[in-house]
Amino acid sequence: MNVVCIGSGYVGSVTAAAFAALGHKTTVIDIDQKKVDTLLAKKSPIYEPGLDNLIAEYMGQTLFATTDYEPVRQAEVVFICVGTPSNADGSADLTYIKKAAENIAQHLDPKRFTVIVNKSTVPVGTADLVSSIVEQVSGLRQESHFAVVSNPEFLREGYAVEDVFYPDRIVIGTNNEQARYTIKMLYHNLLQRNHYEAISKLFPFPEKTDAPKATYFETDTKSAEMIKYASNAFLAVKISYINEVARLCETLGANVLDVAKGIGMDSRIGEKFLQVSSGWSGSCFPKDTAEILTTSQKYGSELLVVKAAVESNQKMHLYVVEKIQRRLKTLNGKNIGVLGLTFKPNTDDARKTQASIIIQQLIELGAHVSVHDPQGMEMFRALNPDVPVRYCESPLQAAELADAVVLLTHWEDYLSLNWALMQTKMRSPYILDTRNFLPKDFLIDIGFSYEGLGIDANAFRREPIELAR
Ligand code: UGA
Repeated sequence: MNVVCIGSGYVGSVTAAAFAALGHKTTVIDIDQKKVDTLLAKKSPIYEPGLDNLIAEYMGQTLFATTDYEPVRQAEVVFICVGTPSNADGSADLTYIKKAAENIAQHLDPKRFTVIVNKSTVPVGTADLVSSIVEQVSGLRQESHFAVVSNPEFLREGYAVEDVFYPDRIVIGTNNEQARYTIKMLYHNLLQRNHYEAISKLFPFPEKTDAPKATYFETDTKSAEMIKYASNAFLAVKISYINEVARLCETLGANVLDVAKGIGMDSRIGEKFLQVSSGWSGSCFPKDTAEILTTSQKYGSELLVVKAAVESNQKMHLYVVEKIQRRLKTLNGKNIGVLGLTFKPNTDDARKTQASIIIQQLIELGAHVSVHDPQGMEMFRALNPDVPVRYCESPLQAAELADAVVLLTHWEDYLSLNWALMQTKMRSPYILDTRNFLPKDFLIDIGFSYEGLGIDANAFRREPIELAR
């Protein structure tokens, strides 16, 4: 099929590369010439494992990029994948969506039926909004010339290539039969796992031959739009909950790792998204919980559980600072090394991360902060130009003369650091592992004073147990 993706951000570039790999002629349209040039140079405009491989393989074959909206004229399906940042009141800013709708409208071919798809995360009712903009600008009629479908994206950053080829579900919201048929045809190869053998060598992970096939779920547009927000808010609630449980475990002397495992064994709850952290963050959960909360308040159906999860999450960020403070007494004049600036590993995305809040707080309390991240330093620096931190080439440098090292992001690279050497470089070898990720027994053995979240590191030291048979 002939596909267009408007926007080459985290969603647009992955979606476009995937459709190109599945055999559709796919054109990325972005107003940013730099991003288009990067794509044309067969490189990924974002850091996402495996995406470079896909773009390098398909650019110029089935994948194309341009700043010009002309390819919309030939497209059967046009995906809107532009950003929806937050307004000051938490609601989604739809400026880029409206602009994309206008541009699409000016380039629709009146002789063919075009399916316009909202893939960006957009408030309930946005499909209707896009329809009315396209009608007004183009003079064409929805239903006879075009239809707007909601097809929310569930990709996780850092695993987007894996998620795009092996989704749990594909949600399609439309009441239009022709659009329903077109979109089903578009996803046919993905649903059938056709072409997977040919493209699996490009995956950054082994082909998942035993992964269950995606569920294809059709509904109306508003329900599809709501599914996206309700999913992200639910996941945020789940993490806030386990983080609160972690705080209570710490007070009562229980071990949250075992508690999470025990809870997750109940298939009604499930083991995923029960990993303790310094709080959820990133470019999706904060934005999406804010939008759905604002909307629920506007319409008098406030989502109280989501509101509590947001508050609890802010508390979790500050709990990390309190914990360091408890250990060091005062933070004034203390050196703190921070490992990890991105909201999770395998991404360079440093937008709205818990690191920026925690670091800001440490600095306000008088600490000198040195930071390291394998991928996120450039973006963090660009987004936080006034935050006076020392950017370090290596974790070792960030730990030099430190009174505390705090691990915020569980990058795999941090597992293989020369911790013994790091310990000797610090002023006091205290480490706070907010992901309960590092080899704690080893660190304690080599002289670190180790703390995690929701565990008593020493009490839960496990020696191998000989089980009587
Ligand atoms: C999230 C959703 O998981 C995706 O399904 C969705 O498509 C995406 O938002 C989006 O709306 O675009 P993402 O933000 O990339 O994906 O990252 P997650 O893996 O969900 O992590 C979000 C935050 O929660 C991170 O800060 C992560 O470290 C934290 N987290 C996650 C925990 O603290 N504990 C967990 O158990 C899981």
